[in-house]
Amino acid sequence: MIRSKISGVGYYVPDNIVKNSDLEEMMNTSDQWIKERTGIEERRWVDNDKLSTSLMGTYASESAISDAGIDKNEIDFIIFSTLSPDYYFPGSGVLLQRNLKIKEVGALDVRNQCSGFIYSLSIADQYIKSGMYKNILVVGSEIHSGGLDKTPRGRGVSVIFGDGAGAVVLSASDDDSGILSTHLHSEGKYAEELALIKPATTFWIDKIIDDENEDGTGYSPVMNGNFVFKNAVIRFEEVIYEALKHSSLKPDDISLLIPHQANLRISQYIQKRLKLSNSQVYNNIMKYGNTTAASIPIALKEALDENKLNKGDILCLAAFGSGFTWASALIKW
Ligand code: COA
Repeated sequence: MIRSKISGVGYYVPDNIVKNSDLEEMMNTSDQWIKERTGIEERRWVDNDKLSTSLMGTYASESAISDAGIDKNEIDFIIFSTLSPDYYFPGSGVLLQRNLKIKEVGALDVRNQCSGFIYSLSIADQYIKSGMYKNILVVGSEIHSGGLDKTPRGRGVSVIFGDGAGAVVLSASDDDSGILSTHLHSEGKYAEELALIKPATTFWIDKIIDDENEDGTGYSPVMNGNFVFKNAVIRFEEVIYEALKHSSLKPDDISLLIPHQANLRISQYIQKRLKLSNSQVYNNIMKYGNTTAASIPIALKEALDENKLNKGDILCLAAFGSGFTWASALIKW
């Protein structure tokens, strides 16, 4: 059977660092509150009009393609995951294809928010295992900053999110390393617990213009933070155990867990539940905040740069987010 493995990884984050102390001046919050509740110390927010979601994805992709040691025209397919696309349509995947100046390969956009990267990896894995494609670019890129409510009203959400992009090349494996399994889930009854509601077809522009009660709310993300937190810790644990069981492994067999960087407290809770050591879990939310679909590939690249993964290691990726959706991937490095 053909296996697929991550052959290259890259990321890009904007230069502009926004510290918690900068937010104190905007939205009645404090460095202490943000650090205690989320672990976040700073995040990157785009501060110029030239950077777009697709352009950041392009920079991350160029780095991943170079890391994979292939020519960009060896890419057979693009999967672009984002909740903050350049346009309502077309998707950012085709813009990435244009930016990379590569041949006319297929480009698919995935909209699964914080789980988007693992969903995309799972799709790519199936294409490679089926023999249809050899090298697939899997990208997660987000610009949250422009859409956040930076007044005191938005403080429960806006302090968490950061901008960034990450990408991997998934290739047909030439040895025994590769993706062992992926597991995907959703529970749509909680769709509105973490959502960006307007404008979309439920509140389409003509309805908004005609509505006398339109008060300008719903244009930035809404989040029932406590409820999200409680569901996240349960689902993360479940889906990691599901992956381990599938391969007859135990938590102790995990060489490195890279959880989606939602909140440091969520990662620490999972670490405790699975009885993992500090060296078995990688976190970088302190520097970047929650970058949604980009958080896992960014963390993966940093973990690799810090020599946290060796050939043969078991890498576990897990994510939970809006939808609700959650997912895991177990990989033999
Ligand atoms: N600064 C200061 N105070 C804030 C604040 C901020 N940025 N945001 C909220 N508060 C206040 C609230 O108004 C509330 O005040 P009150 O007690 O006087 O009413 C208090 O802090 C507690 O608010 P609460 O929302 O209950 O805090 P929390 O402990 O649940 O922490 C989150 C909030 C968002 C950090 C936490 O719920 C969380 O991380 N949830 C998961 C989020 C997540 O992972 N989302 C992405 C999914 S992938």
